[in-house]
Amino acid sequence: MERFVIQGGKRLKGEVSVSGAKNAVLPIMAATLLSQEPCLLENVPLLNDVFVMIQALEQCGAKCKWEGDSLYIDTSAAYPGVLPEVLTKKMRASNLILGPLVARFGEVSLPFPGGCNIGSRPMDYHLKGLEQLGAVIGEKNGFFEAKARGLTGSEICLDFPSVGATENVLMAAALAKGETVLQNAAREPEIIDLANFLCSIGAKITGAGTDVVVIQGVSSLGAKKNLTYRIMPDRIEAGTFIMAAAITGGDVVVKDVDTEDLVALLAKLKEAGLRIAQYDRNTVRVKPSDRLRAVDVRTMPYPGFATDLQPQFMALMTLSLGTSIVSENIFENRFKHADELRRMGANVKIIGRAAVINGVEGLCGANVEAPDLRAGAALVLAGLAAEGQSIVEKIEYIDRGYSFLEKKLAVLGGDIARVAIMPEVANK
Ligand code: EPZ
Repeated sequence: MERFVIQGGKRLKGEVSVSGAKNAVLPIMAATLLSQEPCLLENVPLLNDVFVMIQALEQCGAKCKWEGDSLYIDTSAAYPGVLPEVLTKKMRASNLILGPLVARFGEVSLPFPGGCNIGSRPMDYHLKGLEQLGAVIGEKNGFFEAKARGLTGSEICLDFPSVGATENVLMAAALAKGETVLQNAAREPEIIDLANFLCSIGAKITGAGTDVVVIQGVSSLGAKKNLTYRIMPDRIEAGTFIMAAAITGGDVVVKDVDTEDLVALLAKLKEAGLRIAQYDRNTVRVKPSDRLRAVDVRTMPYPGFATDLQPQFMALMTLSLGTSIVSENIFENRFKHADELRRMGANVKIIGRAAVINGVEGLCGANVEAPDLRAGAALVLAGLAAEGQSIVEKIEYIDRGYSFLEKKLAVLGGDIARVAIMPEVANK
């Protein structure tokens, strides 16, 4: 068991580089199951979710080997393995092996996935899309059983631009016979990264990043000899560091980010009065600014304001001047950080899918608990700004999506340390 111990009040200063994107590398790792040839993924972040996905791939006969921060994956001898429930409960993204396995092997059996408790997170859009490609899917004893005697391209329109459903359909359609037109597709940058990877192993995909994606199925996929593919930078990690600088009144340069992926966040922060300089497309500098003005935010599918940046933004708004209304329109239960922020002196009221935040002069350090990945990041940001010491428990949630968060923040001058605690103490 580990916890973060944070002494607040230090302004962050310096430069930080962003790692590879969790929400790009996970679908791309699943997509390697489509390939007859090995590939080397570069810029892979060292995250617990990546380690879980490696276990999932190995359960399907893949061979994975780290080479520095590159990950070599050989699925030439892969088979439709059955993932243990302990693994699929740990990470919802394990559901991304559905599309590749049913496309390549015509069968897959998958325990219902778990993941962060930010909402019910059903799979109906995924299953409907795969059924429209010809898969027959049953549910038995908590497992999905999908079978297909070859998939056939189809016209599919998602009820909602679901990121995961778009990814599963894209991967399955890559090996379907004929053309698939996917309407109301998710437009997140991670979809573009997945499509680019699939094209690099021979898929024929156009329109990724728009709401209409066209996939011409091919008979098999395999990297050209020694294919290497570089994972895109993590826009959510970048946004988290930008807001860490903002909440501490710091002066930080965030590098290796694609600022095109952060337009909604940067626009909101500028509206709130944050001083931001963009040197080039991959570098942004946050400068010391006066107390931010309260601004309203509504989370939306990309290119709207990212739901994965909502908890961190709420933490920032707890110290703003005025009243901010944050509406969470993607997940039905993504305000768990509000209770913990209140323990630090924040004035937040939840009314349905909206949080009403009345800015306060300052926060006080407290003992808090990360309820999920991004809420945990929000509590770290609040701890960095609060007066005195904060302890953040259950940081295993945070380790799912941030590699060495405390190390990167400490390099910027943040007073934060990872402390191991004895189990008996942890249970107190
Ligand atoms: C991806 O999750 C991300 N995870 C999430 O990031 C992110 O918050 C989410 O997209 C939205 O951007 C990965 O990429 C690994 P959805 P995903 O399908 O694919 C409902 C993080 O913190 N829905 O777009 O699961 C669903 O319940 C994580 O890094 C259905 O109803 O998200 C949710 O309310 C958290 N039926 C909404 O749609 C379905 O079949 C959006 O879900 C699928 C989804």
